[in-house]
Amino acid sequence: MQKTGKDYIVFPLDFASVKEAKEYVKLLDAKVGMFKIGLELFIDQGPSVVQMVKEMSGAKIFLDLKLHDISATVLRAMGRIANLGVDLVTVHCSSSKNMLEKAVQGGQGKTGVLGVTLLTDNDAEAVKASGFKDEFVGNPQHLVMLRAKMAYDAGCKGVVCSGQEVQEIKKSFGKSFLAVTPGIRPAWTLLENDDQKRVTTPGKAVTLGSDLIVIGRPIRNADDPAAAAQKVIKEIEAALNPSDNI
Ligand code: C5P
Repeated sequence: MQKTGKDYIVFPLDFASVKEAKEYVKLLDAKVGMFKIGLELFIDQGPSVVQMVKEMSGAKIFLDLKLHDISATVLRAMGRIANLGVDLVTVHCSSSKNMLEKAVQGGQGKTGVLGVTLLTDNDAEAVKASGFKDEFVGNPQHLVMLRAKMAYDAGCKGVVCSGQEVQEIKKSFGKSFLAVTPGIRPAWTLLENDDQKRVTTPGKAVTLGSDLIVIGRPIRNADDPAAAAQKVIKEIEAALNPSDNI
């Protein structure tokens, strides 16, 4: 089936209460391709929240747990996640290729692994403090690419990366290696005191090659979240098919 604008959108269910999460799943079911369940909701609700989203919606599920442990533990945890019927899960690339391989193995072809290359709140200072050599302190994007290669070699489905890295990642690892981009801000939304520093618009992100864009607060905080999601869909489709707008 051909991918449409909504299939690019991942909406994070960043809510403290399951009641709110349910409201947004209901509101956005037909407007997004995937719901992301993060630590807050998963820790509070446990695996039943995955079941709840699956029962309420046909959208895919991305479990953003950012696993990082010894390989044997990750393998076992991934086995349980795969049994939940989750489509994608995040695993840190900062440990070892072996850990990523075990994560992929544990996913049993049912759950795809997305590597987390470098958290966006890790700036050059943080990279230096972690003991990295000057090459990476001066250019954290080198670290992102090194880790993306590790994820690729380990058989991961893709990586989470900023809009700035998408093109290089797609060029280096090919079309089918997913680039999942958070930090998305449509031009028509400007959040006060936004904590996302390196932002990209939905249209720009998909034009650069992002396969999935994670977009939370611009939709969540809109007066009409479904209408905001629809606007994002339009923006994505216009960016992908510019000739339709002539
Ligand atoms: O669009 P908004 O900033 O509200 O989206 C926040 C979501 O994106 C959160 O769920 C957060 O975990 C996720 N995220 C991020 N930056 C990253 C990776 C994920 O903001 N580098």
